[in-house]
Parts: sequence; C-alpha cells; structure tokens
Amino acid sequence: MLPKILTEIPGPKSRQLGEELQKYESRNITFISEKFPIFWDSADGINVWDVDGNRFLDLTSAFAVSSLGHRNQFITDALIRQAGKLLHGMGDVHPTELKVELCKKISELTYERWIGVKSKSVLSSSGSESIECALKTALLATGKEGVICFKDSYHGTSIGALATSGIARFREPFTKQIAQFGITAPYGIKGLSEVHNIISSNNIGAIIVEPILGRGGKVVPEEEFLPEIREICDKHNIVLILDEIYTGFNRTGKLFACEHWNVVPDIICLGKALAGGFPLSICTGKPNVMDAWPVSDGEAIHTSTFLGNPMGCAMALEALSIHTDPATTSKVNDKSAFFINTLEKIKHPYRGKVRGKGLMLGLEILDDSGNPNGKLATSLINDSLQAGIITLADGPNGHVLALTPPFNISDEEILWTSHSIEKKLKISN
Ligand SMILES: Cc1ncc(COP(=O)(O)O)c(C=O)c1O
Repeated sequence: MLPKILTEIPGPKSRQLGEELQKYESRNITFISEKFPIFWDSADGINVWDVDGNRFLDLTSAFAVSSLGHRNQFITDALIRQAGKLLHGMGDVHPTELKVELCKKISELTYERWIGVKSKSVLSSSGSESIECALKTALLATGKEGVICFKDSYHGTSIGALATSGIARFREPFTKQIAQFGITAPYGIKGLSEVHNIISSNNIGAIIVEPILGRGGKVVPEEEFLPEIREICDKHNIVLILDEIYTGFNRTGKLFACEHWNVVPDIICLGKALAGGFPLSICTGKPNVMDAWPVSDGEAIHTSTFLGNPMGCAMALEALSIHTDPATTSKVNDKSAFFINTLEKIKHPYRGKVRGKGLMLGLEILDDSGNPNGKLATSLINDSLQAGIITLADGPNGHVLALTPPFNISDEEILWTSHSIEKKLKISN
C-alpha cells in the first residue's frame, strides 16, 4: 500500500518518545533530530505504521531482514506455533530437533548444492558473531593469524569483526583495543596486486570479503574479482570467508550472491533475512575446514546462551522453504529489472548510476560537477520520510541511496518511489 501521512513527521508521539529516549539510552545509539526518527508501532508486508498512525513504505526491509515482508504470515505462524511449545533451549548441551533440521537444511542449500559435500555449522544470534566464528575457524584450520579484508567493507562492530572492518569510522575510536590481524586492501580488481603484496609479507590465513559491498555502497565488483580471490586462496592455503549476511537469501537475485560468479567459499556467514525477523546467524563451511574445531569434550570452546534458539530455528526453516521456491528468486529479478529501469528514467543531473544487483540497489546522488553528494542524499532521506518513504544512505561518502525493499514491493510502489525521488531532486535545484 502507498504511504498515508496524517501528521507532521515525526508526529507528536514520536517526538515525545525521542525526547524520553535521549534521557535513557546511550547517546551514540539512536540518532534524534528535528526530522528523525519515527517510532515504529506495527508492520505488514512492505508497510510500517508509526506510533502516530502514519503509514510508510519500508524501502530498507529493516536492514534487509524482512525480505519476505514484515510479519510474513508463514514465518509468524511458525513463531507462534513454536512459542506455544518451547521458547528457549540449551543450544550446545541439550539441543532441539529444530537445530538438527536447520543445520541440515543449510548444508543442503549451500555445500551440498555447490559441491556435493555436507557442510558443518555454528549457529549464533548476530551477524558479527558468525564473523567471529569464521575468523576463529580460519585460525584453527591454517594456524595463520593474518586476515585480509577490504576497504569499505562492513562485518559488524564486535571487537573481532571490527579488526576486519574496512570502514575507518567504526574502528578508529577503538584502535587501542582492536587486534592487528586484519590488513586492508582496496576492493575490486585494483586491489588484487595489494592482496599479493600482503600475502608475500604476512602470515595470512583468511581473506574475508562481501561479494557485493552492502554498507560500503552497493558496489558490485568486476567479474574477475571473486574468482581471482578464490584462486589466490587455493594457491596459498588461505581460507576464503564470504560474508553473505546482507547478500544472502535471494537479496541479489540468486539464493546466494557467490552464485553470480560460481565461487564456492570455504566458509560462508549468513544472518539478517535467515529467520525473517529473529536474531539468528550461521557460520557454515566445508567439513575439512570446520573440522579444525576440536570435538567437544563436554564444554564447547565457542558457544553462546541463545545458540540455536528454537523460535529462531522454526522461523528460519519456514523462511528457507519460501526462499527455495524458484518463484521467490524470479520475483526478485523481475522487480529488480523494473526498479532499475524506473530509476534510470529519472531525468535529473543529480541522479547518478544505479548500483547493485537484484533488490540490493543503490542510487548515486551527485552534485553539479557529478561528484558524490552525501549532503543531498541525507536531505533526500529526510524529505522522503516526510512523504512516507523509509530509506537510508550508504557508501564512504554517504551519497548512495539504499533501496533494498521487501520482495513483495508492487510495481505501483516502485513507480511511486521513483517519482517521489525525482520530485525531491527537482525541488533541491
Ligand atoms: C555484510 C554484513 N556483515 C556483517 C554485518 C553485521 O551483522 P549484525 O549487525 O547482525 O552483527 C552486517 C550488518 O549490517 C552486514 O551488512
């Protein structure tokens, strides 16, 4: 449904909650200004309602989690069914049948499909945790501590994941605490010579890479990039970790983005859309790599309280059955083609290229000289919110308008969004 705005944005209740939150939440967390945020009350499909009764179009899928629509009926029903039986178990001590089913399903969808071997998994709650697990696994498997990561890449804000983050803003305040095992190379084929240099003078055990940069600006690398990274890893006994926390589960128009390049990683990290709204992530990989972990002697050396939470597993199994329906993938590709086409028809000098794949799109916002215009992108986000569109900006210059809607976005909603962006660009002149 198209947006329906009844109050000024933010409305009176959102403003009041913003003021209250400022008193109680760390000031680093929620950005609060005259124009931001709205407080969410409920959601359905692509729509979000705020506490003032305004209806919005969510072009973010709430950080790419609600790909199958907010409160997807099948996923919600699975949650309700499971909540009536068991809310929480003992993930690494006395697990549930659901954990078995989920690990099996993930194996089928990844390494069994790709190379005919069963994968082994570690479940956790957040994307960052699955990255931590992948980094530890690579060290155990190779004995080499060094990790190559890429500029503008994002792997989370936990202290281990930060060591491989290519976004300086997140790392710099904590440099003194961050271990120095992560070495950054430029993303894309221009970074490959640097990758070779780093390997020749460091003890590199892993390369961690996003197949398409998410928060880094929806950057699709050159065709050769990932296949060459794969070759380098094979040659030097390096574990290739693909971070598909953002790109996984049809977001880019394939079940996993690595399938665009037929590259099979040694480890893949998944999260966000995995359970359609429950904090659940997974680190899964080739058995010979994952078996670097010792057999548990009664006390796992890597675990967490909520590991394999049964509600999350039940929701994930339901979400995966929708993701593996070929109709889901083809819907993403159809909507993507229509969205790209519509965005490219926006006639305005500040409208730059459309980036990305599938429904992981980014629209570059430019200035008079054709340079990145983060300031305009920010005001576009604020103005769009006033009109009922929830969106965000990405990239090192903050000039890439991120368009990552739920897959059930309608053509009418796509057209309305593009027209609305065009209108805002015209006003900005
Ligand atoms: C590619 C990628 N990796 C890792 C993360 C971190 O995930 P989480 O925020 O669940 O820890 C994110 C989150 O945006 C991400 O986009």
